[in-house]
Amino acid sequence: MNPTSERAARAFPIQPADRMQQLPTQFFAKLVRKANEQIAAGHDVINLGQGNPDRPTPGHIVKALQGAAENPLYHKYPPFNGYLFLKEAVAQRYREDYGVELDPETEVAILFGGKTGLVEIAQCMLNPGDVCLVPDPGYPDYWSGVALAGARMAFMPLTENNDFLPDYSSLAATDVDKAKLMFINYPNNPTGASAPLSFYEETIRFAARHGIVVASDFAYGAIGFDEHKPVSFLQVPGAKEVGVEFYTLSKTYNMAGWRVGFCLGNREIVRLINLIQDHYYCSLFGGIQEAASVALTGPQDCVSELVRVYASRRSALYTELDRIGWKAKRSQGSFFTWLPVPDGYASEAFADRLLNEAGLVVAPGVGFGEHGEGYVRLGLLSSEERLREAVRRVEALNLF
Ligand SMILES: Cc1ncc(COP(=O)(O)O)c(C=O)c1O
Repeated sequence: MNPTSERAARAFPIQPADRMQQLPTQFFAKLVRKANEQIAAGHDVINLGQGNPDRPTPGHIVKALQGAAENPLYHKYPPFNGYLFLKEAVAQRYREDYGVELDPETEVAILFGGKTGLVEIAQCMLNPGDVCLVPDPGYPDYWSGVALAGARMAFMPLTENNDFLPDYSSLAATDVDKAKLMFINYPNNPTGASAPLSFYEETIRFAARHGIVVASDFAYGAIGFDEHKPVSFLQVPGAKEVGVEFYTLSKTYNMAGWRVGFCLGNREIVRLINLIQDHYYCSLFGGIQEAASVALTGPQDCVSELVRVYASRRSALYTELDRIGWKAKRSQGSFFTWLPVPDGYASEAFADRLLNEAGLVVAPGVGFGEHGEGYVRLGLLSSEERLREAVRRVEALNLF
């Protein structure tokens, strides 16, 4: 701060609302800063720490936006809750991919990316003092909405012994009784685990018995390997009675920068999400909505091609990991791999060592929760050659 602004800040101190103090600290901001320091110092850094898809959006979707940008209709305010044609497009995709029927008018809400909806549902469902069940390790954005609502999180440990699925019978009865909302996420970030249909059946029984709304985060719904074609929560009878699914175009079509997501399923929850959004925004730019509907209804071979690329990278990475003796359970979906750290290391110290001595950025597991300790997350978001090079750099440290 320069002296003038310092004086001004003393004369008129800005007092933020208490809720700003409740926001969780952004663990991974530190990681980005450390990596940027290495890059600024001129090191050749391989960044496998983040979750930003590295490939471009398919050309036919970009072209659709170019054309749509010229349509004067889209230069006006869009309808508050978005265009019906986009809701119809996502309903068509769910019908074709998962055999799920959705009423576009009442069972689909358009979001500014999945992240926004994950924070909004906590605002819609939780009062101060309520409990939200959250996977540990898990995607940190779940914490943000719960904190803003003044609610409390109770963590559901995801352990390797239980295939990184929560064990509902092990949760404290006091937490379960107070819980009003729960997040589940398969294919999973950060563990790369997938969930079978039977897991969703069990979740729906558990949620219905205890009156807990289910928020199924299906951000990686398109990305499954080997025999693990991801299943949607909404495929299971009874799902719409107890919850919603969050879907996003970010990963399926490499459209992370476009900010298009959906909340699908239970119509009362969809109504509440639309209602809260009426107070915050006036939907996405119409041209983006048109291009998003082209993504969902146009040729889908770009999606199978993308999954093929990730599968090939995954196999290159695990082959190298096996070769140096870094043993890890194979991921089943998403573009993340979840690897145990060597004995004697905490995940953050291990990640620091990889950054400082191998120029390799990985995400320390503890950043995703207490049960993430002992692991690091590597993304398949670099070329096969760079992934092999990353493992060769680890090999040179003689840790395994
Ligand atoms: C588990 C999970 N859920 C949701 C999202 C949100 O994606 P977006 O806001 O781009 O739709 C991400 C993005 O990284 C994610 O990893």
